[in-house]
Amino acid sequence: MTKNFKQNVFQGRSVLAEKDFTAGELNYLVDFGLHLKALKKAGIPHHYLEGKNIALLFEKTSTRTRSAFTTAAIDLGAHPEYLGHNDIQLGKKESTSDTAKVLGSMFDGIEFRGFKQSDVEILARDSGVPVWNGLTDTWHPTQMLADFMTIKENFESLDGLTLTFMGDGRNNMANSLLVTCAILGVNVHIVAPNTLHPSDEVQQIAKGFAKKSGAEILITDDLDKGLKGSNIVYTDVWVSMGETNWEQRIKELMPYQVNMAALEKTGTPDDQLIFMHCLPAFHNADTEYGKEIQAKYGITEMEVTDEVFTSKYAVQFEEAENRMHSIKAMMAATLGNLFIPKV
Ligand code: CP
Ligand code: NVA
Repeated sequence: MTKNFKQNVFQGRSVLAEKDFTAGELNYLVDFGLHLKALKKAGIPHHYLEGKNIALLFEKTSTRTRSAFTTAAIDLGAHPEYLGHNDIQLGKKESTSDTAKVLGSMFDGIEFRGFKQSDVEILARDSGVPVWNGLTDTWHPTQMLADFMTIKENFESLDGLTLTFMGDGRNNMANSLLVTCAILGVNVHIVAPNTLHPSDEVQQIAKGFAKKSGAEILITDDLDKGLKGSNIVYTDVWVSMGETNWEQRIKELMPYQVNMAALEKTGTPDDQLIFMHCLPAFHNADTEYGKEIQAKYGITEMEVTDEVFTSKYAVQFEEAENRMHSIKAMMAATLGNLFIPKV
């Protein structure tokens, strides 16, 4: 490496939470994802991580995140290795810190999906390699890169957009959307019953960024206020992984279901309105859980109706595909020694 060689601002960095990144950096990763998507569609190879080994640690289940990291790593020329909850010693026979030291000596990058944010932080601290948060109870940062890729594909610019999240306003998705919108200058409404509003800590983080970006933040239990003027109506499951309180959540959140009436409350012209969902979604009873819920509570839809899920507004499957392109961008930028002159 020559004396004057300046590494790019991402090289060697972990991605643990959105709050650790500037608007410029997040936009760069999102735009790089869009570029890599174009390369993939054109069949142009992009083996930026040739010869690298990537560990994929999953304490919780996953379809999109696991598939995205796996295919992205392979497209980048790296080797992904899935280390599931029941396959390794982590947590049962070995501490997170010891696991970090071992994995860091063999792998060039580590993805972690699990419960505690502190675990992904320990992995980053003690492994010596970039660690990517594939979802914890607190944040879901790689989802944000895909989501803002999808938003940029659907709108000419982020300027003046309003995103409304309806549902469990304290979960990882609500936290991540609130803070990411605040960083990027997108107006953000969290519409949830008062018992499920974001924690003070998360609200303070978001407010700090909003002051700088100019994003307007609204946290309310009022559907009319929360939906008015919205361009992106977003929801997530009412019961997240690790939780079991279905009955209570159904009672609390049924008024906050995303249905056609909710979309109408936005008053937004059709071509300026989209529906998003990180998935998986309970929009029908075609799942084991769905059937159980139908038998117990007599409902076949929860956070979103099938009508909205299959409507012209819905972009959740484009969003799901974008997980792969954006995770690829993030891994390449943090591990690929790329030439990124200015962010
Ligand atoms: N959106 C998302 O993280 O999906 P998975 O749980 O399937 O990874
Ligand atoms: N809030 C959900 C997100 C799934 C992608 C969960 O944590 O289960």
